[in-house]
This record gives sequence, C-alpha cells and structure tokens, in this order.
Amino acid sequence: CGIVAYIGQREAYPIILKGLKRLEYRGYDSAGIALLNDGLKVYKKKGKVANLEEELQGKDLHSNIGIGHTRWATHGEPSDRNAHPHRSASGRFAMIHNGIIENYAQLKQELLSKGYVFHSDTDTEVLLNFIDDIQKNNDCQPEEAVRIALKRVVGAYVIVLLDQENPDTLIAARKGSPLVIGVGKNEHFLASDASPIIEYTKEVVYVNDYEVAIIRPDELILKNLGNERQTPFITKLDMELAAIEKGGYDHFMLKEIFEQPQTIFDCLRGRLDATAGTITMSGIEKYADELVNTNRIVMVACGTSWHAGLVAEYIFEELCRINVEVEYASEFRYRNPVINKGDVIIAISQSGETADTLVAIENAKNQGAIIFGVVNVVGSSISRASHAGAYTHAGPEIGVASTKAFTAQLAVLTMMALAVAKKKGTITEQRYQTLLKELEAVPEKVSKLLKSVDGIKALAEKYKDAEDFLYLGRGFNFPVALEGALKLKEISYIHAEGYPAAEMKHGPIALVDETLPVVFIATRDSYHEKVISNMQEIKARKGMVISVINEGDEQSISLSNDVIIVPEADEVIAPMLSVIPMQLLAYYIGVARGLDVDKPRNLAKSVTVE
Ligand code: G6P
Repeated sequence: CGIVAYIGQREAYPIILKGLKRLEYRGYDSAGIALLNDGLKVYKKKGKVANLEEELQGKDLHSNIGIGHTRWATHGEPSDRNAHPHRSASGRFAMIHNGIIENYAQLKQELLSKGYVFHSDTDTEVLLNFIDDIQKNNDCQPEEAVRIALKRVVGAYVIVLLDQENPDTLIAARKGSPLVIGVGKNEHFLASDASPIIEYTKEVVYVNDYEVAIIRPDELILKNLGNERQTPFITKLDMELAAIEKGGYDHFMLKEIFEQPQTIFDCLRGRLDATAGTITMSGIEKYADELVNTNRIVMVACGTSWHAGLVAEYIFEELCRINVEVEYASEFRYRNPVINKGDVIIAISQSGETADTLVAIENAKNQGAIIFGVVNVVGSSISRASHAGAYTHAGPEIGVASTKAFTAQLAVLTMMALAVAKKKGTITEQRYQTLLKELEAVPEKVSKLLKSVDGIKALAEKYKDAEDFLYLGRGFNFPVALEGALKLKEISYIHAEGYPAAEMKHGPIALVDETLPVVFIATRDSYHEKVISNMQEIKARKGMVISVINEGDEQSISLSNDVIIVPEADEVIAPMLSVIPMQLLAYYIGVARGLDVDKPRNLAKSVTVE
C-alpha cells in the first residue's frame, strides 16, 4: 500500500491526490482520502486513484491537512468499504495504515465484547478503534493512546492518524513499513517513499521503527514508544523530479527498459576502471576478509531480485569458488535455517522494503551472519539493516514489473564477485582483465540491442494469443529463462514456465505441440551445444521455437521459427544482455493484449506484507 499525508498552508487535496498517483505502483485496488473541512470527511473508492478523483469532481475539498491511501488488499477484498482511510467508532479519528496487524483477531474480540461494531474487514479498523478506545478510557492525548496501543500490537505498520479535534496535528508511527517525512517551510509531507515529496522539498526524515511522530506545520517531534524524545535526522534527497516521470514514453516500463544503458553505466561508474584494472566498492572493502574467507554465501530475495541472486550463484561459484545458496526470503525466514559463523548473506532488493527479505536478514543477523545489501532505494529499510552493501543506482523504478533494477543488480553482483575473486586469487589475471572490459562494454551493447525493438514488436503481435509459453535456458542463462517467464506472466497474464532446458524432458515436454511457443535463451557459451540438442527435441515435437542467439548461429537459426539476435558477450556477462529481449517481448505482448503493463492486476511493486 502507499500512504500520503500533508499538513501546512497549502490545499492538501491536490498534493495528496498527486502523491497517491505517484505511489500507485505500491497498490491500486482502492484509494481514499480524509480531510478536515467542516468536520472530518472521508472519501474512498474501489479501483485506481483516477476513480476516486472522478468521484470527487466538483466537491468542496478545502483543507490544509489530510491523509490519503492507495491499497493492496490483505485483510478483506478490494471494495469501497475496505478502502482506507477508516474512521473510528467515535467519529473523531481517521487513519491510514500500511502493513499487517498480526494479532488483530484478538484485539477485535476485545473490542467486540465492548460493543464496538465494525464496518470493514480490515485489521486497520481494529487498530484504529483500539486507539480510539484507549483514548476515551484514559482521556489522554491521542499520541499517548497511539503509544499505548502500539505496545500491544504484533505485526508491521505505518499509520497516520487525523484527529478532528486537533486540526493542526498529524500523528504517525512505523514499524517495519516505510515512512518518509518531507520537511518544508511551515509544512510537512508524509509518504511511503520520497516520490510524492520530491516536488516540494528535498529535506526528509526517515522515521525509524518504534518511533511516533507528532507533526504540526512548523514542528516535527519524534518520540519512542517510551515517550522519550528522539532527534529527527534530516537527510537530503538525491533525486530529480524527471526521474519519476514518464518522459515521453507510453509506459514507465518501456522508459525503464530503455534507460538500461544509462542505469548500468551509472551503476559501474566510479567503481569499475577497466583501464586501471580495478574495482572499488567501499562496502565490499570493509568486509573483504569476511567475504574472501567465507565458506558460504546465501542470496536472499523475492521475485525478480531472486532471479538476480540465481545468476549470481553461477557467477560467484565460477569466479570465487564459494558455495552459494539462493533462497526465497519467505521460506528462509521461517525454515529455521542453519547459519554458521562467518556465513555471508546477500540481500537483493529493488525497493529495500520487501517485508520477507527484511525479516530474513534480521533473523540471520541475530544468528551472527554478515549482511550485504544490494538495494536500489537509498535509505530504505534493508539498506539500513545491512552491515554493508552496494546500491544499484538504477534510479526510481516505477513500472511494477522490475527491469532496470534487475540488470543493475547483475552489474553490482558481478563486480562484487570479480572483486572477491581477485582478492582470493581464484581468477586468472587474464580472465579478470577480460571480464572488466566486457563489463565496461555492457551499456554500449545494451544500446545496440535496444535498436532491434521493431523485430520484437512483430513477434509480440504474432504470439500474443498463445495460451502458454515455455522459456528454456542452461547455466548462466537458466535464471534468464525464469525471469522471461515471470515477466510474461506479470504483464500479459499468459501462463508461462521457465525451466532448465535439459530438465524440460522430465515434465514440461508433455506440453509441447504445434501451438506452444518455446523461447530458448541460447547465446554462445559453454552450454551452447547442449542447448541446441534441447532445441532439436522441441522441434521434433513441433513446438514453435523462438531463440535468443548471437549473430551467425546458423544451427539455431535452422531450428527456430523466429530469432532475436543479441550482442555476443562472455557467459558471465551474457544474462545482462539476454534478459532485455525478455523484457521487451513481455512488454509488447502486454500492450498488444491491451493491458495496463505498468500496473498489472493483483501485483504491487513493493510488498511490505509477508
Ligand atoms: C514484487 C514486485 C517484483 C519484485 C519483488 C521483489 O513482487 O512486483 O517486481 O521483483 O516484489 O521486490 P524487491 O523490491 O525486494 O526487489
């Protein structure tokens, strides 16, 4: 979910509405706003923010304070009544919430026995009435009621409370879900990330877990749950407004795919120097001994970031001779995993807020592991929970399906592996030098590759009505097959499976007939001959082969119905190139099917619930 709030001298509604649109990538099944205009007014609507906007046309929405929310449903189906803000039973408070209150059933029972009636299925309404009840019984300040309530709460949350009896104060608190406060002149902006704020101020405060913020136009007070004052630490945002706008592209996803030459370049800049033969990454240097001496690296991530971890497994094992495991954060955190002294965990996350990844590393940290964060969003929770790390510097990624963050993750992880391999002596000088040069050449090659979009657009038209897709690859390109299938599923709602090309014989081959498109990621590498054999197996069963290959690969061409040519690269580097046609194919198929590719149904960009 995304939250926005404003307090100051300006009209709150337009600021909140615009902010919600910027945060819509975090969830878009319903939206709502609460304002103080002749009493507390709450407006909410199922569907996207635009539906709410339409509903509110022509209404008097004057208010200098307000809270807004865009939702990704957890408790209760998407509907008007489950949309936020919720209003307390007394009518005095309205509240927005992102996260999950795990013990809500118990709290709800207590409130039901006191005669409370609920108007939604949400855990948020339970927490709000719990606060309301405490406030009434103790006749205390709302901030105190919030503190008392939160001490009883199990779960993750960021909340913002609007109180009609205190029209100059907002109360906010967080644990586990993100909250940024923009500090302006006689005004404050609250949001889940910096994108709704950047337009108005670059000075922000990241609220920490277990902190309660009392916000007035000219004052920001932070307290912990024990009522002790905390010092707000002001950070300067290093982000431009243009970075969060579409800049002439039809969709954010397309813009982000096309930004990759630049984002990969930005990621390498200042770190990789192929001429001098050096890689400089301060986060790595700080823990160089630990990395060189570790017996095991565990990559922990979700979704596309998990696929980046899988590619990195091949890279680290090949170059550094370190045993690598790749874990879904959601499984790892609950599995009672074995963590040995000296184990290194690499947490990979675009948003830096994915709840499962965050908790997984916190657990591992408590057991003595060293945590590296490979994170895109500066100042995010995962970056702060890590001992060290390297930002991917891909800029804000807004399209819900991850693209440029993935290639930047690969760039960072490859540099890390090269730096460790060099220190460890597990790579020859010649290979090291070659790979540095290859890495440096990636932005250029991506640029070249992006010129072939017309061919991919035509393929999208041809295959857009397929009901299933199979994506196959081996070695370094196996995770690319998984990522290709995930992209297609997310954006086009076509069922797709990614598989190791050889393992396909043990099941998916049963699906093959003349209607099934099979995408082979078959660039020239040490597995190439083997992949061609698998291609032959599909061809023999009349599957339609679309292959992603390097120039001049006549054998693949003769076995394929269609080909996509990508520039040649060392196999360690190849996934950064071969994934790009996967992104474009999914994008153009989604568009050809008339879908909202930036906001695919049921998904959210930043999953801050477990
Ligand atoms: C969501 C997004 C994916 C993303 C995954 C992990 O599912 O829709 O695009 O890969 O979360 O997110 P993270 O921010 O941790 O990389």
